[in-house]
Amino acid sequence: MALMDLSPVLVVVLVLLLLLLPLPLLFWRGGEKFSGKLPPKSRSNSIWGDTSAFWSDPLAFLDKKRAEYGEIYILKLFGREKIVTTTPEAAKFFLVNVHKSFKHGYRPSITRITDPEGNFTDPDNSVKVRKLLKTPLGPGSIRDSIPTYDALSRSIIDTWKDGEVLNAFHEMERITLKCILNLLWGQEDRQLEYDRVMELHSKMNHGCHVKFPINLPFTAYGKALKAKRDITDLLKEKLKQLRASRSQDYCCMSSVIFSDGENGLTDAQVSSLMLTLIFAGYRTTATVLVWVFKFLSENSKALEELQMEHDALSQSRESNGTPLTWADVKRMPYTMKVIQETLRLAPVVKFMPRVALEDVQFKGYVIPKDWSLGVSYEFHKDPAFFPDPLTFDPSRFNEPIKPGVFIPFGAGAHICVGYEFTNVLLPVIIHRVVSTYSFEPQGPDGVEFWPQYGPKGGLPMKVKLRAGKCL
Ligand code: HEM
Repeated sequence: MALMDLSPVLVVVLVLLLLLLPLPLLFWRGGEKFSGKLPPKSRSNSIWGDTSAFWSDPLAFLDKKRAEYGEIYILKLFGREKIVTTTPEAAKFFLVNVHKSFKHGYRPSITRITDPEGNFTDPDNSVKVRKLLKTPLGPGSIRDSIPTYDALSRSIIDTWKDGEVLNAFHEMERITLKCILNLLWGQEDRQLEYDRVMELHSKMNHGCHVKFPINLPFTAYGKALKAKRDITDLLKEKLKQLRASRSQDYCCMSSVIFSDGENGLTDAQVSSLMLTLIFAGYRTTATVLVWVFKFLSENSKALEELQMEHDALSQSRESNGTPLTWADVKRMPYTMKVIQETLRLAPVVKFMPRVALEDVQFKGYVIPKDWSLGVSYEFHKDPAFFPDPLTFDPSRFNEPIKPGVFIPFGAGAHICVGYEFTNVLLPVIIHRVVSTYSFEPQGPDGVEFWPQYGPKGGLPMKVKLRAGKCL
């Protein structure tokens, strides 16, 4: 019988079956050999193991497993076994001490979207790319850009109307995206480009968080790959324009864009790098800000102290109209503690995934070659390091924190490259919001975990001009 004679439904079923056929091969570990004892296995009954429980609340799930199994255990996610570690000691061991025995462990279906050229996920590229980023993303150039980030933040925050209800996540996304695009291609304000990048990024993000990444034109994963191709075309076009029309020092990233010779990157690598920085940077930073507003709205004492810091800063500055500088950011110590406490309680990255390149021994257990490892930092909520861990209390950062127990930006060879950028952007945005507005969440209580861990519905909130403030 010819394929055309079959009903369309039957054709779809047959196509799906063909696509699913290789699945068992994916999960089969093929008689692997290793010497040593595996860590304890999490008990689960279905072929998908812990997937559903993890999916419905990853943080509660990881907490529960940590309490049940301690320092290291095996869980089964998406049909595959993965070793998870839970302590600062294990984090240091795997991320720093023996990092050369591991590579990044993001699912290939994800890196195909987020790092198509393997700039960060391929160990051969990663050292070179990170070296190239040292100057543009280092403290010097990022701190010099504070006035620009302040102006870009104000271009959105100053448009808020007294008494308006707005979606905090959406507003923060707009600001952080503007600042990241500025970092990548200099001072420009083209709303159309922002909207397009945001729309494509949103599709990519959804595709990265589907349980079953099936590449068909109508699936979320297929749409994400299409969005990745579109955004890559846009970035390549941008790169061409930048190379054709700009002098070599127009923005932070020009040293990367104009890099050549054996230390340089190809066009495909530069556009892939831009894509990764956009992907890794703007929603993570926006999510942290939304959590800051959420925690502050629930903790009036912390909010009052923060307002005092920002009011004092505003009063001491010659004019509120002049852009903030690094000297101003240095005068926000309490703000920094609010940010740290937010990162402690609301991690934007759930665990740091790795794959073993060889058998590695840890505390009497083996992590066999080719196995996946997830380094979790749920120890951020361990009472041994953070007394009364579930309480939002920025003052706990008054005292220095024991090294290695607080690593919201990771550690070792893959520590976040956006750390300096975040470190200045967050306080700048917080200053502009907190010194001008009061805010009251309006939406439903609760959290959502996918595509990112944040307050439900992106935190709709009513903003009101504070007494004596005008724009
Ligand atoms: C508050 C916001 C942010 C948080 C909490 C955060 C957190 C992290 C963490 C925990 C890692 C380590 C992942 C691992 O070891 O597997 C990481 C890596 C990374 N981050 Fe961030 N990040 C933030 C903002 C940014 C920004 C703004 C950018 C870009 C401008 C960025 C770019 C990256 C990149 C490219 C990597 C991969 C580095 C590598 O693999 O060598 N991040 N981030």
